[in-house]
Amino acid sequence: MTGARGVATNRGADGSPGATGGVTTATTTSTADPDTAALESDLRDGFFGDPPTVPPRWFYDEKGSLLFDQITRLAEYYPTRAEAEILRARAADIVGDADTMVELGAGTCEKTRVLLDVFAGRGSAGGSPAEAASPAADPHAGADTHTAAAGPLFVPVDISTEMLFGSARALTAEYPGLRVVPVVGDLTALEGPLPGEPGGRLVLFLGGTIGNFTDAQRTDFLAMLRGLTDPGDRVALGFDLVKSPERLVAAYDDADGVTAEFNLNMLDVIARTVECAGLDRVDFRHEAVWNAGESRIEMWLRAIRDVRIHFPTLGRSRTLSAGEGIRTEIARKFEPDALVAELAGHGYVGPTVWTDDAGDFGLVLVVVD
Ligand code: AVI
Repeated sequence: MTGARGVATNRGADGSPGATGGVTTATTTSTADPDTAALESDLRDGFFGDPPTVPPRWFYDEKGSLLFDQITRLAEYYPTRAEAEILRARAADIVGDADTMVELGAGTCEKTRVLLDVFAGRGSAGGSPAEAASPAADPHAGADTHTAAAGPLFVPVDISTEMLFGSARALTAEYPGLRVVPVVGDLTALEGPLPGEPGGRLVLFLGGTIGNFTDAQRTDFLAMLRGLTDPGDRVALGFDLVKSPERLVAAYDDADGVTAEFNLNMLDVIARTVECAGLDRVDFRHEAVWNAGESRIEMWLRAIRDVRIHFPTLGRSRTLSAGEGIRTEIARKFEPDALVAELAGHGYVGPTVWTDDAGDFGLVLVVVD
């Protein structure tokens, strides 16, 4: 499944750079049909529950990734623009004196460039960026990514190998002296240690993806990240803010139907990835609803007639009556104080919160205690 956020592990996150100043290695685990096995497991976990759910990672085949890219440019979808405004205005404060920048869910690294301009433009302690990037200048760098003097280190982490390596190559060409060590990994199951000197890392988790976790997943994620980081490391989290239900629903149900297509495309991904009958996009419609009690947008695929869905390899079937739905995504919206308190409970302190001028989107920078 090209470009899909399928199955991979983070074994590249071992700190070994392979070479200096360029794109180095990462490792994926590959079993026969890893996407099929992963989707079957997700279906077993969620599809037969109440309500039926499928995790949002199954949005992102090649078409889904292109559709998401379109979403980020829609008039109704403010988060990407609002976050970019914050990053532009606060780049120097966010980067600070980090010697390693780790971006979780880096994708094309598009939104990070404004930070990389500051981070990579800074040069390194001693020696020109070109010297720092040269294997001859640092014969030991192949065995140690942790030396600040070797120059700024950028570690994009993503589950999509192709996109990750494409981005890493582009960044290496664009930022001479920046060492780029891409890591293929599932953000929810990373294993340490993170590359970089303890206390000198800045970990970025942008785009509001923290909102796509359930409360339990968010707790697990923050605990995992705390385990991967060291005191003095910093974490920057982008998060969407609570606002009027009308604007929120419009952001996830745009007039051009791009988000509807993004949602319906998941049915095509499922039908292509596992054996199944009865999951036909003509029998479903996209729906985005505001769940005030849970402070979240929910995306649903709502059956427009009775459908019987059968997965032969799972030996399981499920009937959905007209009007019943499959929940494909949640997008939690936060009050800054509550998020800061939650972060403090996980050992992230000294918060600074910024929003865009319109107050639509937030970015919190915290320090690992
Ligand atoms: C990736 N994530 C932050 C997006 C969001 O806003 O929750 C995914 C998305 N789904 C529909 N539109 C955008």
